[in-house]
Amino acid sequence: MSELKNDLFLRACKRQDVERTPIWIMRQAGRYLPEYRAVRAKADFLTMCQTPELVAEVTIQPVDIIEVDAAILFSDILVIPEAMGMHLEMNEGEGPVFPEPIRTIDDAKKLKNIDPTKELKYVLDAVSLTKKNLKNRVPLIGFSGSPWTLLTYMVEGKGSKNFSEVKKLIYNNQELAHNILDKLSNIIADYLSAKIETGCNAVQIFDTWGGILSQKDFEEFSLRYVEKIISQIKRKDEPVIFFAKGIHYKLDKMASIGADVLGLDWTMDLGEVRKQVGDKVALQGNMDPTVLYANKNYIKDETKRVLSSFGKGNGHIFNLGHGILPDVDPENAKALVQFVKEESKIYHS
Ligand code: CP3
Repeated sequence: MSELKNDLFLRACKRQDVERTPIWIMRQAGRYLPEYRAVRAKADFLTMCQTPELVAEVTIQPVDIIEVDAAILFSDILVIPEAMGMHLEMNEGEGPVFPEPIRTIDDAKKLKNIDPTKELKYVLDAVSLTKKNLKNRVPLIGFSGSPWTLLTYMVEGKGSKNFSEVKKLIYNNQELAHNILDKLSNIIADYLSAKIETGCNAVQIFDTWGGILSQKDFEEFSLRYVEKIISQIKRKDEPVIFFAKGIHYKLDKMASIGADVLGLDWTMDLGEVRKQVGDKVALQGNMDPTVLYANKNYIKDETKRVLSSFGKGNGHIFNLGHGILPDVDPENAKALVQFVKEESKIYHS
C-alpha cells in the first residue's frame, strides 16, 4: 500500500487488518522529554515552530525515544491566528496569550485572510524536511485546531474557566461569530490540504473546547464547520481524525461527518461507543493521561483494560484521552508503548 516501513497506524485508521494495535500519544513531542527541553532551551516556542530543522528534530524524538507508531508534526494550533495578524505570546508557565483578542466587528476586520501556502509556508517546509528525515519509518500526522477551538482562543485571548467572552460573542453577535468561523474553516481546509499535498499521511482536527458548548450550540458552532472542512480537504486516501473533548452525545452524528477516525477522551467507554457507531469509523484513545503518574503495574493493567474495552478486531488506535502531561516520567510513556505492543496482539489473531 505504501513505502512506509510501519504503516500500522494508517491501516488501523482505515479499519484494515493489523497484527497489533498501533499507538501514538497526543502532545508526544513536548516538555516531558528532556531531549525536547534541551532543544527548547535554545529557542523560544514560535521560533521553534518556524525553524524546520528544529521541528523535524523534536517531531522525530518520540519515534526514537518512546517508539510510537506515528509522528505528529511539532507545531501549534495557534499558528493560524498568528498568521492572520494576531500577536501571540507564549509565556512561561502561563500558556499562550493573545494580548489583543477579537471582540468586535472592528477587531475582526483586522484579521487577514491568509493563504496557508504563503503565510504558513514555514509549516509546509517543516513537513517536507520532517518527511525526509523520518525516512518512511512511520507515518507523519499533520493537524489543525477546529474553527471553534481557534475562535475560543482568539476571543478569550488566553485559556479560560467560563469562556465568558466567546459565549457573549455567540449569543450577542452570532453573525460575526459565524463570519469568523466560516473564514477559519476555509483557511483550515486549505491548510490541511497543503499539509497532505506536502507529505502528511493523515491529519487530525483538535476540538479541545467543543465540550464547553450545549449540544445544540456544539452542532451549530463547531460540528457543522468541521464537517464542511472535511468535505473540502483535498486528499487521496489520507485519513482524517476528529478529536473533540467532552462530547458524550450524538455519536452517530459525529461518526457521519466524514472523519475516518473519532478521537475519544478518557471519560468514554470505547466498547460502548463502538457499539453505537458500528463500523462507520475507527476509534482513537483513550487512556486517562494521569494514569502515567501511576506505577508500571498499574499502567499495564489500565492498558489491558482499554484494549479489552475496544475488544477484538480492527479500527482501534491506542492513544491517551488528551495530551501527555509535562511532568510525566518518560520511562512510563515508554512502558505504555511497549505494553500496547505486547498486550494488543491477542485482539488481532
Ligand atoms: O502532539 C504533538 O506532539 C504535536 C505538537 C502540539 C503542540 N500543541 C505543541 C505545544 C500539538 C498537536 C498542539 C495542539 C494544541 N495547542 C492544542 C490542541 C490539543 C490539546 O492539547 O488540546 C491546544 C489547545 C494548543 C494551545 C496551546 N499551546 C496551549 C494551551 C499551550 C500551553 C500549555 C502547554 O501544554 O504547554 C501551548 C504550548 C505548546 N504547544 C507546547 C507544546 C510542546 C509547550 C510549549 C513549551 O515548550 O513551552
